[in-house]
Amino acid sequence: MACTGPAPDERPVLIPAPQKTIWGDGTYRLPERLQLGIADTALIAAAGYVNEVLAPYGTVAVDRCDRGDIVLELDSAALPPEGYHLSVTHAGVRIGGGSYRGVVNGIATLRQLLPAKAGSGAKIPYAEIADRPAFGWRGVMLDVSRHFFDKEEIFTLLDQMARLKLNKFHWHLTDDQGWRIEIPCYPELTQEGAWRLFNRQDTLCMGRAAREQNDDFLLPVRRLRTDGADTLYGGYYTRKDIREVVAYAAVRGIDVIPEIDMPGHCLQAIDSYPWLACFGRGSWGQSFSSPLCVGKDRTLAFCESVWEELFELFPYEYVHMGGDEVDKSNWKRCPDCQTRMRAEGLPDEAALQAWFMHRMQRFCEARGRRMIGWDEILEGDVTPTATIMSWRGAKGGIEAARQGNHAIMAPTTNCYLDYYQTRDTAREPLAIGGYVPVEKVYELDPYEQLTPAEQACILGVQANLWTEYIATWPHAEYMLLPRLSALAEVGWSLDRKDYAGYLH
Ligand code: ACM
Ligand code: ZN
Repeated sequence: MACTGPAPDERPVLIPAPQKTIWGDGTYRLPERLQLGIADTALIAAAGYVNEVLAPYGTVAVDRCDRGDIVLELDSAALPPEGYHLSVTHAGVRIGGGSYRGVVNGIATLRQLLPAKAGSGAKIPYAEIADRPAFGWRGVMLDVSRHFFDKEEIFTLLDQMARLKLNKFHWHLTDDQGWRIEIPCYPELTQEGAWRLFNRQDTLCMGRAAREQNDDFLLPVRRLRTDGADTLYGGYYTRKDIREVVAYAAVRGIDVIPEIDMPGHCLQAIDSYPWLACFGRGSWGQSFSSPLCVGKDRTLAFCESVWEELFELFPYEYVHMGGDEVDKSNWKRCPDCQTRMRAEGLPDEAALQAWFMHRMQRFCEARGRRMIGWDEILEGDVTPTATIMSWRGAKGGIEAARQGNHAIMAPTTNCYLDYYQTRDTAREPLAIGGYVPVEKVYELDPYEQLTPAEQACILGVQANLWTEYIATWPHAEYMLLPRLSALAEVGWSLDRKDYAGYLH
């Protein structure tokens, strides 16, 4: 019997597009009281996730067996770790994954097969889906320094990522405008560094909120506190918050990559501990803040202690060390930095930054971690085991791949979602760079200009959301969606990209 399945217009929309989908004739009706079978104890957490996903459609009872209305199973012999097979027949739904991650990806697809309308008796079309990702790295970066987003908002982001099979959450936890993670051995980082007086961007956001009567731009009142005559704005994550986020992400198959940006973008740390700077106070160079004084051993000890704390909280092997936009003019004048350069035989300040990054990289690797840096770290003789995040166009990633370094593509032109979606003059005061319409995100070819051997160095793609002008979660969502779904297709479905089909 030939199966034609639902008419194209009636088919559920699957984004990112699966590798292979065969629709069948007919639908499976979810029973109101549903039996969920998990064939392997390693899938217990996935059962909890299914339970949450299906809560709007009925109740779920979990059994440790390979039978049920929905069955989750592992099939690591036949499938790659993130691959899955999903079948919907008269007998129910079966999801087999190459690992826990694969099963979670199958659950994301099941979620898109469900009707949008909640309620019992939901019908799912018969289908056989075989699927696997193009890239292992399908990331999203959120800057929580320029504006703070609380734990519940991070959960929302992780849930949206899981729906689109995005699997790396890069958490930009520190910057000049706020330090957001509690570090017990340096308590002032959050006691002081998580709070600020309103800055220029805050004032612009509030002005726009008032002008347009739009609360999406209004700094949330719950993030304000008074300190004497001052109103302070901010917030931070406790260690408990961090652990909860990491656990929530793990259930959804998402790794969390912390970034402590160093040696630049550290002004809040310097304001809390002024001895971290070359001249005992925070300052600005021409475009960027003045960096940590890497001539002083005490600064190096600080950096290592901070990372020791992070290693305890973040289990994933990759960590992000920043390394971008360092104004090196203080280093030229600082006796400690100049002494360091002479002692280490470093010809210039660029070499001093490379020396610092290499030292931090060795520190990470001695503890079983792998270091990622922004593409500036290519400027000084990068070691082969560093991973480069290419942001100033694709050229950093291309250069990295040509010399055998791993790279993640996140060029501003396609992946900076703080850039507006259209050229919209009404919004320009709050847009940062150029503009990135959804088709620009979709257009990204992470392999452009690379030979097959070089392509093997590209781990994947990432969207970045810098939040200088994004003070609330509704505004963040407005910037992220739908462009994240375009990024998901680049990362998952590269070989079958079809913009018209995606747009439909
Ligand atoms: C960056 O956008 N400064 C990495
Ligand atoms: Zn110095």
